[in-house]
Amino acid sequence: MATPDLPIIPEHVAVIMDGNGRWANKRGLPRAIGHSKGVEAVRETVRAAGEAGVRYLTLFAFSSENWSRPEDEINDLLGLLRRFIRRDLAELHRENVRIRVIGDKQNLRGDILPLLLEAEETTRLNTGLTVVIAFNYGARNEITRAVAKLAREVEAGRLKAEDIDARSIGDNLDTAGIPDPDLIIRTSGEERLSNFLLWQAAYSELVFLPEYWPDFNRQLFFDALRIFASRDRRFGGLSAKTAAAAVVG
Ligand code: IPE
Ligand code: IPE
Ligand code: MG
Repeated sequence: MATPDLPIIPEHVAVIMDGNGRWANKRGLPRAIGHSKGVEAVRETVRAAGEAGVRYLTLFAFSSENWSRPEDEINDLLGLLRRFIRRDLAELHRENVRIRVIGDKQNLRGDILPLLLEAEETTRLNTGLTVVIAFNYGARNEITRAVAKLAREVEAGRLKAEDIDARSIGDNLDTAGIPDPDLIIRTSGEERLSNFLLWQAAYSELVFLPEYWPDFNRQLFFDALRIFASRDRRFGGLSAKTAAAAVVG
């Protein structure tokens, strides 16, 4: 949905949904309430991304480091993810949303993995917005698994070490086939990546917003798109403007 104030729409937006706990603390509520309010913000964000014409929306739902939280909180978060998939999958499917899951799928307990796989399978042929759920995701873990896979190929004689390049590494990451994020949004005022998409974020524009995730909404999503549209992406080269001036000059 390119418009005069949004002349360019990112193809892939990734979001570090942070600040649920602080949102709740500020109100004297249990952290779990912050997490459940956060799910409403997820729904609104998926709608806004579809409306804007974004093709890929990656949501950092649970990191490989989040297992270090108290058991109760982990259960709250897993329960919400479970409920989200059970309740929203049919509607997302109707809306032609495709779901993909990134993160380490090994050693996941209980019914979460089957549910995630079902969401991927049900929506496999959909052609609208792709929602990428990062669950049990950590970039170092993802890169380590990709490198180990390539090493096994070399060991088996199917690949030469000198043929390993950025493309073959990218093709072995969980995000294979998904373009790198153009824009990464993090809420809650923290300005760090916390092990999110480290390889893929090489040239992402980063937008840090002070609002806590449960307060995130359509308006803030479009604000972030406007900030993105105002950035000058150079990828190590010259900006389009500078290059044009050089030709004229
Ligand atoms: C984001 O909110 C949700 C997850 C990390 C799963 P937090 O739970 O990190 O909230 P804060 O950062 O403690 O406020
Ligand atoms: C990043 O937030 C992970 C998710 C949003 C799922 P954290 O709250 O876990 O990150 P840190 O610990 O503040 O870096
Ligand atoms: Mg946090």
